[in-house]
Amino acid sequence: MAGRFPAAWMDDFYSRLDIVQIVSSYVPLKKNGSRYWGLCPFHHEKTPSFSVNAEQNLYYCFGCKAGGNAVQFVEEMERLTYREAIEYLAGQMHMPVPETQEDPDYERRRSQQERLLNANREAAKWYHAQLWLPENQKILDYLHKRGLDDGTIRKFGLGAAPEEWDALTRALEQKGYSQEELRLAGLTIVKDETRFDMFRNRAIFPIIDIQGHVLGFGGRAMGNAQPKYLNTSDTPVFNKRKGVYAANLLKKQRDLKRIILVEGYMDVVALIQHGITGVVATLGTALTNEQARFLKRYAPEIWVSYDGDSAGQHAIMRALDIFEQEGIPARVLFFPDDLDPDEFVRERGMEEFARLRPMRAPEYRMQRAKEGLDLSESEGRMEYAKRCAQILTKVSEPVELENYLQMLAVQTGFSREVLLMQMGIHIPSAAKPTAPREKVSLRRKNDEKQSRPEKTLIALIASGHMPPEAVKAEDFDEPFLQKLAQKLLRGMAPAAILAECESEQERTNASEAFSLNAEITEENAAAMAEDCLRTIRIARLQQQIEQLKSSLDSMSTEDKSIALKEMMTLSNELARIKRAMH
Ligand code: UTP
Ligand code: MN
Repeated sequence: MAGRFPAAWMDDFYSRLDIVQIVSSYVPLKKNGSRYWGLCPFHHEKTPSFSVNAEQNLYYCFGCKAGGNAVQFVEEMERLTYREAIEYLAGQMHMPVPETQEDPDYERRRSQQERLLNANREAAKWYHAQLWLPENQKILDYLHKRGLDDGTIRKFGLGAAPEEWDALTRALEQKGYSQEELRLAGLTIVKDETRFDMFRNRAIFPIIDIQGHVLGFGGRAMGNAQPKYLNTSDTPVFNKRKGVYAANLLKKQRDLKRIILVEGYMDVVALIQHGITGVVATLGTALTNEQARFLKRYAPEIWVSYDGDSAGQHAIMRALDIFEQEGIPARVLFFPDDLDPDEFVRERGMEEFARLRPMRAPEYRMQRAKEGLDLSESEGRMEYAKRCAQILTKVSEPVELENYLQMLAVQTGFSREVLLMQMGIHIPSAAKPTAPREKVSLRRKNDEKQSRPEKTLIALIASGHMPPEAVKAEDFDEPFLQKLAQKLLRGMAPAAILAECESEQERTNASEAFSLNAEITEENAAAMAEDCLRTIRIARLQQQIEQLKSSLDSMSTEDKSIALKEMMTLSNELARIKRAMH
């Protein structure tokens, strides 16, 4: 980062920040217990799950898991960089920003971005007005021919780029925008002293973000001209890896049960015209983690609805991986007969659409796993079972897992117990095959459950109520939480740790851990910590015992006796800890 602020100044700055006051100017907050609560500004909700912790200068939403410190809150709300947010807040507190560290570029960039956004807005208005002029009739006809009505055209602010070379450029120059600004906004192309419009003879789809800024455009060619779609490339105000098409409509569509993610502009527009809500598209690129996190704020589930060709299939798998990385439940919605969503609703109507059933991610993956295998041969069934076992290790709901196992057992002829073992889930030899099914499934290592006491420990250290030396970094198994613990134990403030997080995922995890401190008081902190430590130790011992147990079969007699002794020691230790709890 160019020119950091001096540490002493930053300390002073952070100590003066009042997160409750800052957040309150955007979101009404109510005090309840040790925290303040309000409706989350980052996702739609009716009951408050957004909390502010004044003591630690942190916010965290238990619903969408957005979290951070006061500076990061302002970054998100005002769309500022870290540095800009600091300057913004320092300004509000009348704290002079250290002279030497000043970024002379900042003001210039801010005002330039504003100018470019305004130019885009003017361009969108202009394109839209062009659509209704007689000379552009053929573009309006094209949109009508594609089934769009005038209400939809207005709703999306669709427009027409005329055939002339520089009609838009001239119109915007008259409004005072310079050639350079229009070039930067991606509206005008400058080549060998001449300039011409980026979009000519195309139907225009403005790309509008959730705050209503026009970020860029997509232009659909008339007829078969190439390329079929032309998109604004990245500009100082547009990053196609971050935005999605029709983001602006998400805000108005409350309480979405799912978002449908499609590939094309026309698919979004057509589905929404048919009354389907929550439809967005990526902008001619593969889905990114940033887009996935953005979508997560608006619905609990995403349905991926890409084309059925092989490129589309590949993109679906990638999208599912990304949603999984981000912990977002996803399904796949297939449109039959090689129809894209736009064609499907137009040809078959809403009734048929309502009959489509989305596939859950594992089901889709299992279906894909069949490819290239002959299930009428035992070799093929074996390979299929192995691939599916791998897929199913990621299913966390026991009843869902059971469902897939039954399906797989029928398809492959292997018993569900064998399939479970293939997944690495060991059934103790004592357990009869008739043992209650859920119980067996639940034996799977549950990461979320395991990290819970570790996260609570983090919250305890962060609360400042822990006696020194009571908890050590080695008490943590999860590497990221261990790193957090080290920083806290070194005396770093939670807010400062959040400022250092390298990825959004890290920040989310850290914010979550810091926010688990609802019931922590000076009186109960030590006892709570002891509880967590005990739970962690018990889980570790149990895991070690399980591991030894499951490798016994493959051991030599000699190793076996060593392992059995070791298991005895571990069991005794386990019993001792459990006894101490009563
Ligand atoms: P498709 O080729 O599937 O087109 O591209 P479509 O959406 O069905 O378009 P219509 O129905 O023929 O009008 C899907 C998306 O991929 C991007 C666009 O975002 C498009 O909506 N794309 C496609 C491009 O960016 N450039 C292209 O040349 C083609
Ligand atoms: Mn199409």
